[in-house]
Parts: sequence; structure tokens; C-alpha cells
Amino acid sequence: MVITSEEAMVEESVCLRDDATGVLDENGRLLLSRDSKRFEVGPLLAELVPSLEILLADGAPEEVLRGMVSQNTQAVEQLHVLLRRMDDRGWLQRVLTFKGQPLLTMKPLVAKPQDRQAPDVAGVVTLSRFALLRRVGAELVLESPRSSAVAVVHDPRVGAFVTSLCRPVLVDQLDAEAIGLPASVLSVVATLLGDASFLVPDLAEEEADMRLAQWSLPDLFFHSRSRQGRHANGYGATWPLRGRFAPLPVVDEQGESVIALTRPDLAAPAAEEPAFTSVLEGRQSIRAHDDDQPITLEQLGAFLYRSAGVRHQVTAFSDGSPRPLGMARPYPTGGALYELELYPVVHRCAGLYPGLYHYDPLRNQLDIVTAGLNPGLESLLQQTCAKTGMARRPQVLLTVTARFGKVMYKYEAIPYATILKNVGVLYQTMYLVATAMGLAPCAVGGGDSDSFAALAGLDYYEETSVGEFLVGSRRQS
Ligand SMILES: Cc1cc2nc3c(=O)[nH]c(=O)nc-3n(C[C@H](O)[C@H](O)[C@H](O)COP(=O)(O)O)c2cc1C
Repeated sequence: MVITSEEAMVEESVCLRDDATGVLDENGRLLLSRDSKRFEVGPLLAELVPSLEILLADGAPEEVLRGMVSQNTQAVEQLHVLLRRMDDRGWLQRVLTFKGQPLLTMKPLVAKPQDRQAPDVAGVVTLSRFALLRRVGAELVLESPRSSAVAVVHDPRVGAFVTSLCRPVLVDQLDAEAIGLPASVLSVVATLLGDASFLVPDLAEEEADMRLAQWSLPDLFFHSRSRQGRHANGYGATWPLRGRFAPLPVVDEQGESVIALTRPDLAAPAAEEPAFTSVLEGRQSIRAHDDDQPITLEQLGAFLYRSAGVRHQVTAFSDGSPRPLGMARPYPTGGALYELELYPVVHRCAGLYPGLYHYDPLRNQLDIVTAGLNPGLESLLQQTCAKTGMARRPQVLLTVTARFGKVMYKYEAIPYATILKNVGVLYQTMYLVATAMGLAPCAVGGGDSDSFAALAGLDYYEETSVGEFLVGSRRQS
């Protein structure tokens, strides 16, 4: 960096990232660690020790660290290589200050991707459409699923600068006075943001190339944050809510108004139904129901039990008394948490009044949620016709909800992804059971979770719909 009088008030210092620890051992080896990540290098030249001690503590500008070893060219070279390696592997954070006030901290999350070239901030740049500014704790953070770092914005003038980057601009032609920082400082901020993939050279990079154009911001965030590799968040079974909230019960209370379902004799259908391979080969989506001979209550009950019933409970005896631990069911779920619930919206079913029900898989019964089809339920049925091209409303719309807390209590980063995987597993189980039973199944790709929560009296954040599936009687051809 060339220092002018104004830039002399700008300082970019580097230090070890604040979620890592580092030591220099007696053999001159540098050992860094965070979570399960390790970085080891050395033995290093003894001349490096003072600058490394600063790097591991409060940090300093790179030129200051280099100045401390400038008498020894080998040490200068070794320090340079070490800083580049630490930077590339995501061990260094950078703090930019102006007149002693912090403007921005660049915090690495993971190693820098090697496949992207930073834009030239002397040319036209604009904010990536994947950049998102939000509050994390008491900090304002700029993050992006394209970036291996986050930028913590300490100063509102940096916020103003980011605002001015919403369209393609030449940084040195921005109204620096209106932003409140000298143009030279804006250029340093732009370099840091550009290096971390928050800036793109033009709109084309993210809009004309299908690789990136195909991704929406929510989808790329969801993908990058629910898989490992591009973030440093907790991952998997970390029990993030334990100690702050009570877990949801494994077994739910019994409903008040219920309709008992007959547990099917599973030995009988085995003799009558097609073999497994025929079921698999015969499975298809059928978007027409035989309303002259609608599905019966007995068939619906058997279908629900065979797809999603509880075979038996798994119980632990911790203090001598039985405690429900989990359940064995026909379809698998991540962590055996069984967060999915089925709510049949019944339009036409022999032996069962139309209305909204909840399937209680443990007691094998239907809880009555709403007797009769109100306009909201009619509208849900109608929407599925639009989504599937069915000429007439389906006999039964099975709305799949998730009790989010069951999964979110245990898992970090992956809960919603796990829930959607479980929906897919349940869909295929329902497809196969319906096919074996000679019913007409069809998955539906989307639905209105807000409306469903309102219709079923659920809280959107606790439990609402994550899937829909149609089932009815099959026309004999
Ligand atoms: C996740 C998922 C969502 C689906 N969404 C719809 C839908 O909204 N409308 C529809 O008519 N079919 C839907 N289907 C059915 C597919 O269109 C169908 O499975 C696909 O065309 C293959 O045909 P097949 O099931 O008869 O083999 C969906 C299937 C799945 C697995």
C-alpha cells in the first residue's frame, strides 16, 4: 500500500482470527487451532518470534511485522510466505481503522477459494447480489454464500459506502464527502470487500453466466449454510437449544374428538398385493380419482398406518420408570426424531365426513381439527388442482407439517435441510404404499404454509406445512 498523508491515518492490521488460539512452542513451531481445525508450521527462524507474538495477540499492520525482521532477508521471506499461507487458509483477520477508529473487520470463515479473481477496484465494481447485511449479536455483518469471510461493519460511513455500491460505480468517482470518508479510504475498503467476494466487476458476472444466474440468494444461502465447507457455524447434533428451552415431547397428547382407525392386518395384503419389484416398477403419479367409488375410511386408515404409523415405541428406563425415547415407523427420519405430522384434508371419503383431520400415528386415530370444509380448506383443495392439473378436487389432500422444534433442538445448520429430506422419504413411502394398495398417489411440489397454519390453528414458527400429497381411489381402466 502506498502511503499518502491521508492514507497515513488508515491502518490495516492483521491478527490471528478471534475464535482461534495459537502458540509458539519451544522448538519454534507455530501451532494454531479452532474447533477440530489445526495448522502447524515450523520450526521457524528465531527472528520471527517477536512479530508472531504480536500476530497472535493484538496484531499489527503487515509492514510493521515485516519491519521487525527486515535485517534478515531469509526471515522476511519466511514471514511473507507464512502470512500468505495463514491468510489463504483462513487464519488471519484484518481490522481497518481510520484515525484510530475501527471501520471494518474482515473475519475469515474458511479457507479462501482459489478459483476466483478479485475485481480490480480501480475499475467499475458493484455489490454482489448475494451480499446480505444483517445484525449478528450486537454487530452489523455483511455476509455472502460466495464469500469465505464476513465483514463486520463498525462505522455507519462504511454502511453508506456499501449503499452506494448497489449499482455499478467507479469508486474514485463516488461523492466521498457525502459518504464521509476520503476516496483513498473507500478504495481500501473496496479492496477488502472485493478480495472477499462481496464485490463483482459488473452485473454480468452473476446474471449472464448460468453457473451463478441459476442461484437465488435464499437457495445459495440455504445450500452453503446447510452443508459443510463455506461457513464456520456449528454443524450437526450440537443441541443448540439445550439448557435454554425444554425439548418437545416425543409422544403427543391424545386429541379430544377422535375417530379410531382399524389397524390393518399386514399379513393379508402381502398375499394379495403385487411383489415389491412390481410395486416399484408400477409406481406412478396418478392425477385423477374415481369419485364414483371414492377411497374408504378403511383404506385411508390402512394407507396412513402402513405409510406413517408407529410400529412400536422405544422406551428407556432411566430412573426405574419408563420414558418414551423414540418410535419405530415405516419410513426413516434423520435422528429418528419423527417431526413430520400428517393432516388429511378430506374432500370425499366413504365413511368419513369432509373436514380437516390430524393423524395420530401412535394411537392410530384421526383427531378432528375442523368438521366440514370451510372456504379456506376448499381453497387449499382448489390450489392443488392448479398445481397438478387435476380436473376435479382430490379426494384427500395430505398436508405434511413439521414440528420444527423436534429437529432444531438437536441439530445446528442442517435442521431444515433434514426436514425436507424426510419429506422426500415420506413421499416415496406413501407412493409405494398407495401403489401396493391400488390407490392413486401424487406428490405436490408446494403449498401455502401461512394459510395452512391459520386453518389448522398452528403457530407458523412452531409447526406448519412443508409438503403436500394427494391420495384417492384409482379409476379402473
Ligand atoms: C417433490 C415432488 C414434487 C412434485 N410436485 C408435483 C406437483 O406439484 N404437481 C404434479 O402434478 N406432480 C408433482 N410431482 C409428481 C411428479 O411430476 C412426478 O413424480 C414425475 O412427473 C414423474 O412421474 P411419475 O411419478 O408418474 O413417475 C411431484 C413429485 C415430487 C417427488
